[in-house]
Amino acid sequence: MQTMISFILNNQLIKTDKPSGGSLLDFIRYDSNLPGTKIGCREGDCGACTVMEGSLNDEKISYKSIVSCLTPLGNAHGKHIVTIEGIKMECLSPIQNSFVANAATQCGFCTPGFIMSLTAHSLANEKSTKQKAIASVSGNICRCTGYKSIERAAEDISKLLEDKNINNPIEWLIEKRYLPDYFLSIPKRLNEIKENQQIANPNDVIIGGGTDLMVQKADELVESSINLFQDRKDLKGIKVENGRCIIGAATTASEIEQSSIIKEIIPEISSCFKLISSEPIRNMGTIAGNIVNASPIGDLSIIFLALNAEINLGPRILPLKDFFLGYKKINLQKDEFVKEIAFAIPTKPTLFNFEKVSKRTHLDIASVNSAIHLIVNGEKISSCSLSAGGVSPIPLFLYKTSDFLKGKAISSELIIQANEVMQGEISPIGDMRGSVDYKRLLLRQLFFAHFIKLFPNKVLASDLLSNSDMR
Ligand SMILES: Cc1cc2nc3c(=O)[nH]c(=O)nc-3n(C[C@H](O)[C@H](O)[C@H](O)COP(=O)(O)OP(=O)(O)OC[C@H]3O[C@@H](n4cnc5c(N)ncnc54)[C@H](O)[C@@H]3O)c2cc1C
Ligand code: FES
Ligand code: FES
Repeated sequence: MQTMISFILNNQLIKTDKPSGGSLLDFIRYDSNLPGTKIGCREGDCGACTVMEGSLNDEKISYKSIVSCLTPLGNAHGKHIVTIEGIKMECLSPIQNSFVANAATQCGFCTPGFIMSLTAHSLANEKSTKQKAIASVSGNICRCTGYKSIERAAEDISKLLEDKNINNPIEWLIEKRYLPDYFLSIPKRLNEIKENQQIANPNDVIIGGGTDLMVQKADELVESSINLFQDRKDLKGIKVENGRCIIGAATTASEIEQSSIIKEIIPEISSCFKLISSEPIRNMGTIAGNIVNASPIGDLSIIFLALNAEINLGPRILPLKDFFLGYKKINLQKDEFVKEIAFAIPTKPTLFNFEKVSKRTHLDIASVNSAIHLIVNGEKISSCSLSAGGVSPIPLFLYKTSDFLKGKAISSELIIQANEVMQGEISPIGDMRGSVDYKRLLLRQLFFAHFIKLFPNKVLASDLLSNSDMR
């Protein structure tokens, strides 16, 4: 069913009956004649189309960067979408001035995307640092500058933001001319937009953040009836109930990364999110989208397999291990959808580690990835859950290796023996990301890395490498 989509684009209220599955980028450029947002790859890779998305939560507005090429137009409903034209004032903003002062722009094609990422960074309710400012442009590619001048501009911007009022950044940013005055009126105006009462039809295509579907089926989606899941309140959020951590299906990777609940339960989970895609993609992609996509190298699938998570499909709850049946085949009936992912909160001190090898640090899917979750009692491993991606048609839970390690005392020799068990449990195929032998070697290295990192006094890289053969 097609519903009216209403949102604020820069300073203008939009009401449109254009298809929900069309791209926000096309709406911005072709329906709204705002050409500052550029079209590069249309696959979420280059960041030329980056815009800001503001949304209200408990009357408070917060902004984040998103790529408009992969944003279904329907996901803009009830939001404030800001393009480079939306921050135009009588003068350049301090962020734009820093780009000029550091010669951080040459042909200029990428520049609006960088400026929008850094403007979203300036709006965060936290202190800016050089590292955070640079991380905010992890989704932006520049083919001219070689990045050093952009890094210098980002560093200058983080210094300028030192005095920012983190409790009320918008007022501060307006006063310092980062943002035009109309930003103050946005919360009230968004409040006036009514929620879309979507009628869920089981046959409609479900879209979360769109970061998989919009890459694979952009043309098809314009013609399809779709179910927008990303803003469904019943599917969002992270809570603790009866000793379990429950994550709503539509929770984004960034929301998991920043969750105080997750940081308290297993802090290492949050830090590994930096290895997943880029800031705008993490701001959009949902946990259910990652799992249902069933990519053998899906990072969230690998992380939550190692946490022994369960997947709630409404009428059924399954161990996540049993959800993946074959290459891109999942245990999901036609009228089912993912409601929640949950895992038991460990009662004893627990160790967790995630490793990933990809060609680039950011914006790249893994060649091979792996996660491990251990409970250790003195010298001995009392519980082990190990997962690996890129070495089988599905995201793999390594039952035999996990069982082998259980009850044993940690030593380099044990890890070498466990690698032999693990190599018998995997079945990688050669593809563009590497040959069979290369993937076997990569997983061995990641497996060793888990133990070198978690037990630096007991397991030494030199012992592992000198005493094990290629496999
Ligand atoms: C540039 C780029 C970089 C990326 N890098 C990485 C990376 O490093 N690691 C990684 O793992 N992934 C990566 N991805 C893939 C993607 O971002 C993730 O898989 C993301 O979590 C998908 O979530 P989504 O909500 O955007 O999925 P969508 O595209 O909205 O949906 C994906 C699938 O899930 C289905 N679906 C969504 N929600 C539900 C639900 N609740 N119930 C049933 N079905 C549902 C949809 O119908 C669709 O079939 C990258 C993607 C891009 C574009
Ligand atoms: S056009 Fe490249 S990320 Fe959108
Ligand atoms: S300035 Fe030309 S692509 Fe960045």
